[in-house]
Amino acid sequence: MSRKKLTVVGAGHVGAHTALWLALKELGDVVLLDILEGAPQGKSLDLMHASPIEGFDSRVTGTNDYKDTANSDVVIITAGLPRKPGMSRSDLISTNSGIIKGVIEGIGKYSPQAHLLIVTNPLDVMVYAAWKYSGFAPERVMGLSGALDGARLRAFIAMELGVSVEDVQAMVIGGHADEMVPLKRYSTVSGIPIGQFIAPDRLDAILARTKKAGGEIVGLLKTGSAYYAPSAAVAEMAEAIIRDKKRVIPCAAYCNGQYGVKDMFIGVPCVLGTNGVERIIEVSLDADEKKAFDNSVTAIKGLIAELKLG
Ligand code: NAI
Ligand code: 2OP
Repeated sequence: MSRKKLTVVGAGHVGAHTALWLALKELGDVVLLDILEGAPQGKSLDLMHASPIEGFDSRVTGTNDYKDTANSDVVIITAGLPRKPGMSRSDLISTNSGIIKGVIEGIGKYSPQAHLLIVTNPLDVMVYAAWKYSGFAPERVMGLSGALDGARLRAFIAMELGVSVEDVQAMVIGGHADEMVPLKRYSTVSGIPIGQFIAPDRLDAILARTKKAGGEIVGLLKTGSAYYAPSAAVAEMAEAIIRDKKRVIPCAAYCNGQYGVKDMFIGVPCVLGTNGVERIIEVSLDADEKKAFDNSVTAIKGLIAELKLG
C-alpha cells in the first residue's frame, strides 16, 4: 500500500506544529507549504532532523509550489492572519477569505479528491468559504472547533478534580467563538456526569473559562494565539480520516437540516472516517442548550453575511 500524503498549508505556529504531530503519528508523508520562501523548507528540514531521534519514517518536505502538494489525501489549511489591533472582524473575514480562495485554487487544481480540514479563523465562516470556493462534497470539508474546545474543557475538568485526562470526556458544540456551547450534561468522568463531582458555581466558571480559553492564551502570549493544542487537535481529526477510525469528534460540519440548521457549517458531533464526515450525531438539547446553540447559529449567519464570495 502506498503511503498517504498530507499537506499543511501555512507553515506558521499552528502549521509547523501540525506537521510535527502528523509525522510523529506516521500518518503519511507531509508537505508543508507557505508563501514565505525558506520558512516551509527550513522547518521541514528541521523536522526531518528530528526523525531519527523520534524514529518516525514520514518524509516531511517544504515548498512554495502547489505542484508539490499533488494527490494529497488530506489538506490542512492554517494559512491566514490573526486579528491585529485596529482590525475589525470584517477586515479579518475579507483578508482571510481572500487567502482561503487562493489556497483552494492551488489545492483544487492538484488534489481534487482531498479532504479539507480548515483551521483559519474566523473558523466557521472560513470553512463555509472553503466549501464554496472548492465545490468539494460537503463531507470532505470540515473545520477545527470542538476537537480543540472539548480538549480544553477536558483539561480544565481534569485539573479541577486531580484525575487523569484519560478518564474525562467533554463535548463542546456550536461555533468556534465566544458563543460556543459546552455541554455539561454530555461531559463525564468515566461515564459519571461532571455535575456529580463539581459544584454548580465552579462548573459554570470552568465552562466560562473554556469559552474564552483561546483569548486567555492570546492575552498571555501577546504576539499570537495558541498552537500546541490546536495542532494536536487537527492532527487527531486527520488521523481519524487517514486510519478510518470512525472517531466521534465534534467539528465544524455541513448541516443540512441537522440541529435545525441548513446550508451552514457549525460545530456538531461527527463520525470521522475515510469518507470524511460520515455522519452527524444529533444529541437532544434541553431548552438552555438549544437557546445557546441557536445564538451561535445567529452569530455565524451574521459573519457569513459579511463574506463577499467573489
Ligand atoms: P501564523 O501567523 O503563525 O501562521 C500563519 C502562516 O500562514 C504564516 O506562515 C503565513 O506566511 C502563512 N500564509 C499567509 N498567507 C498565505 C497564503 N496565501 N498561502 C500560504 N500561506 C500563507 O498563525 P498561526 O498561529 O499558525 O494561526 C493560523 C490561523 O489559524 C489563524 O487564522 C488563527 O486565528 C487560526 N487558528 C484557529 C484555531 C481553531 O481552533 N480553528 C486555533 C488556532 C489558530
Ligand atoms: C484559539 O481558540 C485562536 O481560535 C484560536 O486558540
